[in-house]
Amino acid sequence: MIEAISLSKSYSGFKAVSELGFRVDDGVMYAFLGPNGAGKTTTIKMLTGILTPDSGDALINGISITKDPVAAKRNCGYLPDVPMLFEKLTGRQYLNFMMDIFEIPAASRRERTEKLIESFELGPHIDSLIESYSLGTKKKIGIVAACCHKPPVLFLDEPTSGLDPQSVRALKDTLKEMTGRGVTVFFSTHILEVAEKICDRVAIIGGGRLVAEGSVAQIRAGLNAPGDGHDDPKSLEDIFLELTARNPVQGESSVPG
Ligand SMILES: Nc1ncnc2c1ncn2[C@@H]1O[C@H](COP(=O)(O)OP(=O)(O)OP(=O)(O)O)[C@@H](O)[C@H]1O
Ligand SMILES: [Mg+2]
Repeated sequence: MIEAISLSKSYSGFKAVSELGFRVDDGVMYAFLGPNGAGKTTTIKMLTGILTPDSGDALINGISITKDPVAAKRNCGYLPDVPMLFEKLTGRQYLNFMMDIFEIPAASRRERTEKLIESFELGPHIDSLIESYSLGTKKKIGIVAACCHKPPVLFLDEPTSGLDPQSVRALKDTLKEMTGRGVTVFFSTHILEVAEKICDRVAIIGGGRLVAEGSVAQIRAGLNAPGDGHDDPKSLEDIFLELTARNPVQGESSVPG
């Protein structure tokens, strides 16, 4: 379970995220959508304890990320938007390193990684140095590293970017299998067809504020007032474009990071 409680974050006076609140129940696949610069990555970094919020808090399975960050992080897997890997390790060494951090017993490691390595077709690369990997292969080892310690809550920042169609299918199957086991999956994406196909609920943010939240059907129903002339059900893409046009992202921060 994930609970965001009035999360806010500014970068040198520029408000990137404003009083954001939502709740994601166990076993829910939750798509986090918004235009470039809307505040998705900033939010995910606050939810995972990488960035400290200016105000507000987040609970991961009931544990505060600001008050008890280590205990909260024990419950999390995280794929960053850009690969952050130790490139002088092989893929297998990196997965072992991640499982060391999460204190996964040696006896269960093979069972945890074998199927993931196979699903993402990483077998031919797993004993090569990560620096030799293509961008998509780096993404895939990052996904496996986020999942292999079997976290109850998984955060993925744009997991589909750079993946080929086979890998997108492997990702969708893996995530569905995880939510089926009760894992809470929170992912950002710009690929709205993927989001519409696999998510149970969505949040759409614009300018750091929540503009819509619920199942796609609920959000669609909120937009389609009876007799407004929309006979065809709106796709998630139509909904996204309509809502984000009403709530444009303010000028991007020009403050250097
Ligand atoms: N380190 C930083 N320093 C200054 N401003 C930042 C920093 N990181 C993000 N911002 C600003 O905060 C806002 C939100 O950025 P963020 O990366 O969270 O957006 P996003 O929704 O993830 O966008 P994208 O879809 O492009 O990944 C933007 O205006 C961005 O310029
Ligand atoms: Mg981002």
